[in-house]
Amino acid sequence: MATSNHTKSFAHRMLLRFEGILNKIFGTDLNPFYYLGALGFFFFWVIVASGAYLYAFYKTGIELSYPSVEYITNEQWYLGGIMRSLHRYASDGLVVVMVLHLLREFILGRYRGARWFAWVTGVLLIWLIYAAGINGFFMPWDKLAQYATVSTMEWFDWLPIFSSPLSQSFASQEVLNDRFFSLISFSHATFPLFVLFFLWIHILRISYPVVNPRRRLAVGMLLAMLVLVLVKPVLSQGAADLGVEPRNIGIDWFYLFVYPLLDIWTAGQVWALVVGISLLLGMLPWFPTRNKQIPVAEVNLKDCGGCRLCVADCPYEAVVMRPRSDGMRFMEEAVVVPDRCVSCGICVGACPSSTPFRSEDNYVSGIEMPSLPISVLRNTMATELAKLEGEARVVVFGCDHAANVEKLRSDGVAALSLPCTSMLPPSFVEYALREHRVDGVFITGCRENDCYHRLGGLWTEQRLAAKREPRLRSRAESERIRQFWASSADSKELASELESFRSDLRRLE
Ligand code: HEM
Ligand code: SF4
Ligand code: SF4
Repeated sequence: MATSNHTKSFAHRMLLRFEGILNKIFGTDLNPFYYLGALGFFFFWVIVASGAYLYAFYKTGIELSYPSVEYITNEQWYLGGIMRSLHRYASDGLVVVMVLHLLREFILGRYRGARWFAWVTGVLLIWLIYAAGINGFFMPWDKLAQYATVSTMEWFDWLPIFSSPLSQSFASQEVLNDRFFSLISFSHATFPLFVLFFLWIHILRISYPVVNPRRRLAVGMLLAMLVLVLVKPVLSQGAADLGVEPRNIGIDWFYLFVYPLLDIWTAGQVWALVVGISLLLGMLPWFPTRNKQIPVAEVNLKDCGGCRLCVADCPYEAVVMRPRSDGMRFMEEAVVVPDRCVSCGICVGACPSSTPFRSEDNYVSGIEMPSLPISVLRNTMATELAKLEGEARVVVFGCDHAANVEKLRSDGVAALSLPCTSMLPPSFVEYALREHRVDGVFITGCRENDCYHRLGGLWTEQRLAAKREPRLRSRAESERIRQFWASSADSKELASELESFRSDLRRLE
């Protein structure tokens, strides 16, 4: 039942180690790497709030824009100045968490199969966020704005879409008119609306998306930004003058990193680079891979009671309900949307008809993973448990994406790895203890707050604590059940926790 998913790339192992260190410093609840997407939303809202303030005082016009930003920055430094700096640093923060989020999803391999949707919409978000951000640098009409505007127009002039060159409008102060300022001001307010719309699309196929970081993490980020704002406030770099080419200006590398390339490459080459990288990124989900996607979940109508538990637990909105089609007395039936299913098996763990306390040998659940039918899981467990010897006989249930539980096998330990720990119906725990009389059940999977399938760890904890359907029935003895969350970088800790569990079991006897 174990798969090659346990073999991790170098980057994956390094990431797990690094996140292990962050877990020690912040705890799994506040590890910023577990909240990169949510931090993206957080920075976005800080940008919107600070931007709204700046808009109240910003004036559009060739003679008005620069002085109005200077007024905000210097005359109102205690609020306007802070807002301006906060606006910039939150924008930079958005790029940092976005890039880390992208790299993390890539390294963890969470961009293939049904996840292509979040990935591709993520790539579109990069373009929108850059469009909004670069537009922002035009607004103060200082020397940096002049550099960013003129370079952008020259860059765009390469595209055969404008009848007259855009850069001509910036040939001198006299040619430039106020319409330009109205346009950039309007587009700087409009782009974020598109960003918000695409953020909504980005998480459309994700159930219970985490869009808010923990409060303490958000407050910490805000305080860190405020310290930065006070230590290094954002200032303009002198009024723009189209008669003089700006020199020695400091650029914002988070947004404008591609601009220095325009000095050494042609506009066409820079377009080829950014469009090429974007296309390559966008097509990554379809590149060949060694890790084969296992078949998606399938509903067996005969055994589906229409209870909706699979719908509630699926992390990817991949199960929907529709009116009953087979004349049975239930109102509804479950249907899997194959394009959305990531083959985690969490729905199988949720389905009441997965219970092993069923009499048929080859029983079928309402929803099944074709790669591991529930009756095969029951039979394999029975075969494995029959082989156990000695004291403190334990069955370990693990996850194909976390620490490899096969390594824990011994005379007294059976190990079964599932596509996600949460594929395990809690009734299997009770069944192993009562019907097979094992001394203990040990459950493991990805690190806390870092389930590969997003919600598996949480659902398992809640089901075992009888806080979520299907619940572990209270008859099961809690001291004979242990949960321990471990990634493939935590194999040693996992082995020692299992040993400590077995020692505790020996004491019970
Ligand atoms: C600043 C922009 C972005 C924000 C605010 C953002 C936010 C989020 C959020 C909140 C989630 C759901 C996380 C969860 O609850 O598990 C998510 C998922 C995801 N994001 Fe982003 N995202 C952004 C950009 C990107 C980019 C640029 C990419 C990659 C090109 C990307 C790829 C993904 C993928 C693949 C998932 C799905 C992960 C899974 O299926 O488990 N995102 N994003
Ligand atoms: S296996 Fe089940 S829970 Fe997982 S994505 Fe597919 S339908 Fe949803
Ligand atoms: S959990 Fe099982 S019984 Fe309930 S709706 Fe889903 S497939 Fe049907």
